[in-house]
Amino acid sequence: MISSIIFTIILLCGGYLFYKNASKIRRNVLLGKEIDRSDNSSERWKLMTLVAIGQSKMVVRPIAGIMHILLYAGFVIINIEVIEIVIDGIFGTHRVLSFMGGFYNFLIASFEWLALGVIVGCVVFFVRRNVIKLQRFMSKELDGWPRSDANYILITEVLLMSAFLIMNCTDHLLQTKGYDHYINAGSFPVSSLLNPIFNNMSTESLVMLERGCWWFHIIGIIAFLNYLPYSKHFHILLAFPAVYFSNLKPKGAFNNLTSVTNEVKLMLDPNATVPPPPETPLKFGAKDVMDLTWKQLMDAYTCTECGRCTSSCPANQTGKLLSPRKILMDTRDRLTEVGKNIDANGSFVDDGKSLLGNYITEEELWACNTCNACTEACPVNLDPLSVIMDLRQFLVMEKSSAPNALNAMFTNIENNGAPWQFSPADRLNWASED
Ligand code: HEM
Ligand code: SF4
Ligand code: SF4
Repeated sequence: MISSIIFTIILLCGGYLFYKNASKIRRNVLLGKEIDRSDNSSERWKLMTLVAIGQSKMVVRPIAGIMHILLYAGFVIINIEVIEIVIDGIFGTHRVLSFMGGFYNFLIASFEWLALGVIVGCVVFFVRRNVIKLQRFMSKELDGWPRSDANYILITEVLLMSAFLIMNCTDHLLQTKGYDHYINAGSFPVSSLLNPIFNNMSTESLVMLERGCWWFHIIGIIAFLNYLPYSKHFHILLAFPAVYFSNLKPKGAFNNLTSVTNEVKLMLDPNATVPPPPETPLKFGAKDVMDLTWKQLMDAYTCTECGRCTSSCPANQTGKLLSPRKILMDTRDRLTEVGKNIDANGSFVDDGKSLLGNYITEEELWACNTCNACTEACPVNLDPLSVIMDLRQFLVMEKSSAPNALNAMFTNIENNGAPWQFSPADRLNWASED
């Protein structure tokens, strides 16, 4: 009875805390500007099924892809077990779903194989990061918290799955002893390999271990849930909507600014019908996170920090300062800072900082050649390039701040109607005979 009450309190507090922190992330994302991604729902569902559920872009790098599928499938399916744990916890029952008989045995056996898969996947990921030290995990933008975060997640998942297997093993041993309420239920193809370790333990120790692992497993899951909003691991929830709301336009198609298009239309034809300019003057591009769209902000929280974008980026490969992964990480860090500012003051109070300048430098932005290799490589269809372009647009259109080579080109376009330094009158000189 007491343990049921304690369990229910932990569950409710954990659920409430997660709801509160996830709501803050939602609020932060909605600080972004509106963008309509409600079109073409059938294509969006297809894309989400393929890329997020089907992991199609993950397997482009086969080792990471296959290991991730082990983690992903294992984690999602094993969590069905949590349903039983919650019912048992609240009502003080034990293996309440065992009435399903043979199907229950099949489920428990599958969970055990999947748990083994998760452990293997996590160990491989851990080794790639910490022993082989793959180059894409060594960049300096991962120094400090991001690197620790990745390791904490992998270690926690191994611990959670190990607790699950030890719980099953000790439960099985108690079942064979016919002890108390440990009814014969489940099939344990993986955890029974641990039998030699626990076989000689006294019944009391087995019960303590089984209960200990049961509590560790469920409290670990609740703690893990509450860790998600502070971690790149939030992608396990956001990857699905982030892919659904992907940019469906062909890569390389940039958005024309309606206000500029209208001005050009009027220049070409003063009688053209265009909507009147808005009362409040438009701001071009983005200086801070609030100037980006909600989808760009969602991308920032979804980024898994895998670095596939950066390792495909020609600017990065040729030693330039730019890393598209850092662009999204900076966006998330600044957004988190803005969120904390709102929490402290009720609404955002100018802190004299901005994404452009304090987090991302002009040198990084101008190193991008807009090739789209980053968006192509991203397994979650995120779009760091769009953030780069919006920050650049601010620099050019609001600050008139562009590299000299570009300024020369802008002047030529303005004066000569072409990027080159020749008068329009000389344009056909190339065709003259002499
Ligand atoms: C829902 C269950 C999911 C779980 C439990 C999960 C788990 C993980 C874990 C533990 C890692 C860390 C690997 C590392 O940092 O070394 C990871 C990385 C990653 N996840 Fe997920 N994930 C899930 C869903 C998804 C989905 C739906 C996508 C969308 C495609 C996705 C994309 C990624 C990517 C791109 C990485 C980086 C992989 C790399 O380093 O190459 N994940 N995931
Ligand atoms: S679009 Fe820019 S950031 Fe992306 S890969 Fe190309 S150069 Fe790098
Ligand atoms: S933007 Fe995509 S490819 Fe780049 S680090 Fe984030 S998840 Fe990986």
